Amino acid sequence: MRQTLFAALLATAVAAPAVAQGLHQYYGLAMAPDGSRTATIESSGGHNVITLRNATDGRVLRTIDPCATCGYSDLSFAPNGDLVFLARDPASKGVMLDYASGTATRTIATVPGIAQTPRVSPDGKRIALLVTLGAEKEAGATQPGVRMIGEIGEKNDEQRLAVFDVASPSSTVTPLSPAGRYVYEYDWTPDGRGFVATTALGNGDNNWWVATLDAIDAQSGAVRSIAKPATQIKHPRVSPDGRTVAYIGGLMSDYGSIGGDVFTVPLAGGTPTNITAGAKSTVTTLDWTAGGLRTVTLAGDAMQFGTLVPGKPVAPGFAKPATASAGDGRAAFSADGRSVAAVVQDYEHAPAIYAGPIAAVRQVTHDNDAAPALTRAKSVSWKNEGYDVQGWLLAPLNAPTGKAPMITMVHGGPSSASVPGYVTPNSMNGALLKAGYYVFLPNARGSFGQGEAFTAANKRDFGGGDLRDILAGIDAVERVAPIDDNRLGLGGCSYGGFMTMWANTQTNRFKGIVAGAGISNWISYYGTNGIDQWMLPFFGKSMYDDMKAYEDVSAVYRLKSAQTPTFIYVGERDIEVPPTQSVEWWHALKAKGVPVSLVIYPDAGHCVTAPAQAADVRARAIAWFDTYVKNAK
Ligand SMILES: *[C@@H]1O[C@H](CO)[C@@H](O)[C@H](O)[C@H]1NC(C)=O
Ligand SMILES: *[C@@H]1O[C@H](CO)[C@@H](O)[C@H](O)[C@H]1NC(C)=O
Repeated sequence: MRQTLFAALLATAVAAPAVAQGLHQYYGLAMAPDGSRTATIESSGGHNVITLRNATDGRVLRTIDPCATCGYSDLSFAPNGDLVFLARDPASKGVMLDYASGTATRTIATVPGIAQTPRVSPDGKRIALLVTLGAEKEAGATQPGVRMIGEIGEKNDEQRLAVFDVASPSSTVTPLSPAGRYVYEYDWTPDGRGFVATTALGNGDNNWWVATLDAIDAQSGAVRSIAKPATQIKHPRVSPDGRTVAYIGGLMSDYGSIGGDVFTVPLAGGTPTNITAGAKSTVTTLDWTAGGLRTVTLAGDAMQFGTLVPGKPVAPGFAKPATASAGDGRAAFSADGRSVAAVVQDYEHAPAIYAGPIAAVRQVTHDNDAAPALTRAKSVSWKNEGYDVQGWLLAPLNAPTGKAPMITMVHGGPSSASVPGYVTPNSMNGALLKAGYYVFLPNARGSFGQGEAFTAANKRDFGGGDLRDILAGIDAVERVAPIDDNRLGLGGCSYGGFMTMWANTQTNRFKGIVAGAGISNWISYYGTNGIDQWMLPFFGKSMYDDMKAYEDVSAVYRLKSAQTPTFIYVGERDIEVPPTQSVEWWHALKAKGVPVSLVIYPDAGHCVTAPAQAADVRARAIAWFDTYVKNAK
């Protein structure tokens, strides 16, 4: 469950900011191996084009746009500085793997289905690609699910590794890795003979939480186990000498929301070593360059680009209370590890490309410098029950004189964080601020940013310590800003949606609640969602083996204490949190006579992201808060 710094119940923290009219957008940033150029997918509204820029001064060197009706994605440089990318034409059912060299662009293969993550081999002659032939849905559990009809559970989308020759276009696509095994991520070994990969047997959406670290042979496709870590794993990377694999390991609730410690393990196989043990920060991106390990970490309110020497704390090079993003992780590093580039934004400043040597990163694009700030943001820290906790307070520009109402928005995950993203009018935060509310974004126990022990501290304690951290955070905010304690509201989606339903049974401090894709009954949730495996690392046992642990955090068992009026929304085809969870809570509140409204959005997946539907959610949420919070007596 996620969303943000990154996204299972992910919906908020790291999600891409909504496109605002007139704002220049940069997506999918990659950096050339020599650090001299960046590639991004850019637009100022309308069609996107691939844009190559000088990494020193941000000047546009060239644009690439071979298909006027296509959307582009997955930019990746070859070792010689050529660029590969994917082009998808909404009119045809397929994805083109394109190769740009100099000013010429050609199509190497067309995948009948969906594809992601092209990577050119170290010798430049082959391109590996993850393909899902005949895909029934988009990859990832936050996407709308397929209809539950026919014989259930017999057919899964399978993402497999395929390899193409740069010199000879292919008319067919034949996967290399074996059928029945879903490949999530991979990296070439430096000798070009194979890959390290994270894989799982069976349904890809459901089994990422138990994925293993494996080697795949580039000739035969044979799979060999390297390690079966107890944690979730992301960003597997092979050392330049080909002997060691590093990865980010940690308690992660969502595939797209990355955070943990760095582990290393021999490529030959063995027991992984935790090389950032005890750090008070969360590693969110990992690369292994010729110059050593490079990381992006979240430390409290600051994002840091750093150098990691095993056994020492991450040495931060560049740190800023902002959010970085790139095509694969939060930043892209040059092959020698000296330079870095990323798209950087915070609550008050719209996205810009930052690039340069790790210790001297600078802003190099200025397309959005005139975009106005819609809030004044403040990082707030507090202590609770021995933990250091951090959150963000966003103040409206038109705050009324005297005390103002405040909405606390709980991020998804729970393994995630609310991190700075430029506030546009087309976002929930933007709409709340415009309506005159303060917005509080707490990163309570279970979040990223304070080290692994903090992230793991809400295991078997959902809605316990994390809710107490949030309530203590509201006290802390009330000491530094003119907040009216009698006019507090609560909102969130995914894990945040669970927290809002649960909080209704624990406190009457909030006057109105907006619950998106929430979980009201963990017993009925188990077995009816598409990602049951995510709960095992958090609860320790399945619901069948420890029913009480799941009952103990289910709002439906505490209905008698719930009094707060609630607006509930959910996507019809949400497989992370099926709409039945919202229907159960709506029915319960109705039965008790608590004001409640439920809207189920047709065909929507997790947390309802299509622009027109999201606009409807915002309008109803503001109207709900205005009725029950702003005008509360
Ligand atoms: C980028 O610009 C700098 C000067 O601003 C120049 O020295 C360098 O050669 C340029 N690099 C490329 C790849 O255009
Ligand atoms: C790394 O090691 C430390 C110290 O043993 C431990 O507290 C932490 O949980 C470990 N990290 C992970 C992701 O297991």
